[in-house]
Amino acid sequence: MSPLFVLAVLFVSVSSLSPAEDTRLRERFLLGTMGLSGRPQPAAGRSDRNKVPAALWRIYRRSERRQAEQGDACTVSEYGVRGNIIRYVQDQGRLVSGGSEGCQGCLEKQLFFNMSVLQPVELLSLAQLEVHFYWKPFTSAEILQGPQVVSVSLYKVLRATLKGANPKANRRLLLSQSVQLQHKPASLTLDVTDLAENWRKPARNYGLVLELLPQVTNPEELLPFQPGTSLTLEPALSRPLVQASLVAVSLNPHQCRSRQRRSAIHVPVTPSNVCKARHLYMDFKDVGWQDWIIAPQGYMANYCHGECPFPLSESLNGTNHAILQTLVHSLDPNRTPQPCCVPIRLSPISMLYLDNNDNVVLRHYKDMVVDECGCR
Ligand SMILES: *[C@@H]1O[C@H](CO)[C@@H](O)[C@H](O)[C@H]1NC(C)=O
Ligand SMILES: *[C@@H]1O[C@H](CO)[C@@H](O)[C@H](O)[C@H]1NC(C)=O
Repeated sequence: MSPLFVLAVLFVSVSSLSPAEDTRLRERFLLGTMGLSGRPQPAAGRSDRNKVPAALWRIYRRSERRQAEQGDACTVSEYGVRGNIIRYVQDQGRLVSGGSEGCQGCLEKQLFFNMSVLQPVELLSLAQLEVHFYWKPFTSAEILQGPQVVSVSLYKVLRATLKGANPKANRRLLLSQSVQLQHKPASLTLDVTDLAENWRKPARNYGLVLELLPQVTNPEELLPFQPGTSLTLEPALSRPLVQASLVAVSLNPHQCRSRQRRSAIHVPVTPSNVCKARHLYMDFKDVGWQDWIIAPQGYMANYCHGECPFPLSESLNGTNHAILQTLVHSLDPNRTPQPCCVPIRLSPISMLYLDNNDNVVLRHYKDMVVDECGCR
């Protein structure tokens, strides 16, 4: 069953349950078809457009355009992989040490990405680590010093480390390179798909460790004291800042299957109506979803409605079966119903939302907009 079908029923409700019960039930069902176990409740409270990384906005805008052209909703061309969900999983690792007495400008930080935000059914196509480095000179000495070069080492943590044990014995080096910290942020990206796939298994995710060490090209320049000057370095302030996230592209195969035959949308029929697509704008505010959906605020979903009378004209896009059914119906209306007016062509939409861990998620949903109806 497509999300659209359930969404349509959510709006055009014809039921004997109490309205509140009815809506709750339908909402849960709809969220289920959208691959969500419940309505996300981001701590941010209200959808926060500022949390969305610029790169994700770009992909969202592009996918909107592509969908207007009936493109494939199950490929993320920006990353060249199959997928209908893009998440920016936030780093939850702690700072182990930074700017300590022994080594100003040094930093050691754990990186931890909770991969359980991916549902077991999802196939991970790509996990790309993005680390952004910032460095702000605070003292005039630091400004004179110019850009700082740091050597960056990234380790995979192999197992849990017991207290007292040497943590370095439990690591494997993944990457080591130099990064120039200027007045604007520098960044580093790394494909960690295999690692992240492993992190999805229970008790396998020990995360990563990131180490920064300043590289001194000319030690003379870094001397805190030079005759005739009063410049001093303030160790606590010259610490670089690090921000990491994991871009995870995954595919929910249930939402990327080839077109299925679907059941009829049950809407009351008035005799003069003939089957056709009707305009329906779905405003997410109407179902109280503006809290977690960032974009769009609503969309033109449409629905099918109308009769499939005998003789079935060509414009009603009936199957041979439907043509025969209208014939039988015209002979004995009480025993055989008319064929149903249903969507025969649908198109996808993209949605940007926040999950329970405040990660920004971009997800493509197939079959959300009715383009054409027919008698089936
Ligand atoms: C990861 O997230 C899940 C659900 O979002 C939560 O139940 C779990 O405790 C989290 N794990 C860690 C280590 O934070
Ligand atoms: C049947 O399909 C044609 C195009 O194939 C479309 O123009 C027409 O609107 C459809 N009929 C209905 C009832 O939607």
